[in-house]
Amino acid sequence: MRREEELERIEQSIKACKRCELWKTRTNPVAGAGSLSARILFVGEAPGYYEDLKGEPFVGKAGKVLDELLASIELQRNDVYIANVLKCRPPGNRNPATEEIRACTPYLDAQLEIIQPEIIATLGNFSLAYIFDKFGLKKDKISRIHGKVFTVSTIAGIKIKKIIPLYHPAVATYNPNMKGALIEDFKVLKKGF
Ligand code: URA
Ligand code: SF4
Repeated sequence: MRREEELERIEQSIKACKRCELWKTRTNPVAGAGSLSARILFVGEAPGYYEDLKGEPFVGKAGKVLDELLASIELQRNDVYIANVLKCRPPGNRNPATEEIRACTPYLDAQLEIIQPEIIATLGNFSLAYIFDKFGLKKDKISRIHGKVFTVSTIAGIKIKKIIPLYHPAVATYNPNMKGALIEDFKVLKKGF
């Protein structure tokens, strides 16, 4: 099967998915968006209010910050791929539950296998925790490891070369100092491939 079709098939499964309770309260699932040939794949946490309405990742305030950060390294959304740990919005934007993460992450795994990015950039703690566990990396506080490049070997059909933990762009909307940290970390991202 062609990669486009494979990705399309995953999106269809997500649209019909009832593997956890979140399908009951979602307006639209948010599968992900971007380029099949992306070299960088961003992993956020879960859709928020606007993402749930539009069915697109990072279209609210955090998305505006993400667009600015991408522009700061001369990239556009279509140059990368943007996915989330959870594909449906947790009510009131509460944290993802462990069972929801377990139910939903096979979709993210499949997206990684199809897209085969060179770099996975994690956005926020839930993404960091999932990706670090998956690739057998030892977790540490985001304040200590943000913007650092972690090199990993191939596992289970995914030839990722680098993982770069980043703060979630939403932090920049309530703490302006964090914007500076994110801008610096995006420079690392640019050099990283
Ligand atoms: N925050 C996320 O983690 N993901 C989105 O898609 C939007 C906001
Ligand atoms: Fe399915 Fe994931 Fe949505 Fe739960 S969050 S219903 S597992 S797509």
